[in-house]
Amino acid sequence: QVDRAIRPQSLAEYIGQPVVKEQMDIFIQAARQRGEPLDHSLIFGPPGLGKTTLANIIANEMGAEIKTTSGPVLERAGDLAALLTNLNEGDVLFIDEIHRLSPAIEEVLYPAMEDYQLDIMIGEGPAARSIKIELPPFTLVGATTRAGLLTSPLRDRFGIVQRLEFYDVEALTTIVARSASKMGMQLDQSGSFEVARRSRGTPRIANRLLRRVRDVAQVSGEELVGQKVAQRALDMLSVDSQGFDHLDRRMLLTMIEKFDGRPVGLDSVAAAVGEDKDTIEDVIEPFLIQQGFVIRTPRGRQVTKRAYEHFNYQLPTDFK
Ligand code: ADE
Repeated sequence: QVDRAIRPQSLAEYIGQPVVKEQMDIFIQAARQRGEPLDHSLIFGPPGLGKTTLANIIANEMGAEIKTTSGPVLERAGDLAALLTNLNEGDVLFIDEIHRLSPAIEEVLYPAMEDYQLDIMIGEGPAARSIKIELPPFTLVGATTRAGLLTSPLRDRFGIVQRLEFYDVEALTTIVARSASKMGMQLDQSGSFEVARRSRGTPRIANRLLRRVRDVAQVSGEELVGQKVAQRALDMLSVDSQGFDHLDRRMLLTMIEKFDGRPVGLDSVAAAVGEDKDTIEDVIEPFLIQQGFVIRTPRGRQVTKRAYEHFNYQLPTDFK
């Protein structure tokens, strides 16, 4: 993966998320001093904010190996058992999309997390028996978009729970400048700022847009990239001044034009926008809510005055 080269390897290199950084630094130091693995850790937040990066940093900082898998990949209890029995003491097992584990696999995970014990059934019918295997002490790091997607018994077994927030423009500007320099690209402060403020508070998007800015600059023979070239590239990609992409605009405009700015249920928005509910809840609306363009009310989602202003639309006279 191309992203690997520009990802931070240590907490010190990790930009933004000050609360998460400060806490993880303490928890990691303490575990290291005791010579114990770090407590099981759950990281949640919208896509692209650095959950996988943080999992890798945790392993690095603990001086441990990381084995990576994801919820939907683990189909049978044996798949998880194979991973668990391959761990060395102190290793990190990273399960991305951990909310998508099947109930049968969750059952295997509970005693593994709590007592470092693997309880599995082998064989079928009259010959079936259950065996217990001791596992080395390890750290489970789970990632998910929303903590609420986990069953509560699973959530309760994590000693550390961290929520990643959208990045502010200042942190993103630093990330973009750093990525540009790692890519050997000359980008001035105004160029970094322009990419940052149009990246939806999301480093993955910032780094993706940065690559497209580099393409535009390269083809038009610009050595030093500033705000102008960045703007030209981003306009071409239909990323607007707020960093909204076509899906963001489609959702906002649907709520304005089809629902006249009234509260609307998730099902109705999803059907009208033509996206599935999960995409709306996990990917599109968190940023719109964080930016104050959409609010959640007891009667459903509603666009705010800011959304009307953004598109230069007249507020309906009965707008509440
Ligand atoms: N690249 C992507 N996310 C980052 C972060 N949080 N800090 C530094 N570099 C990054």
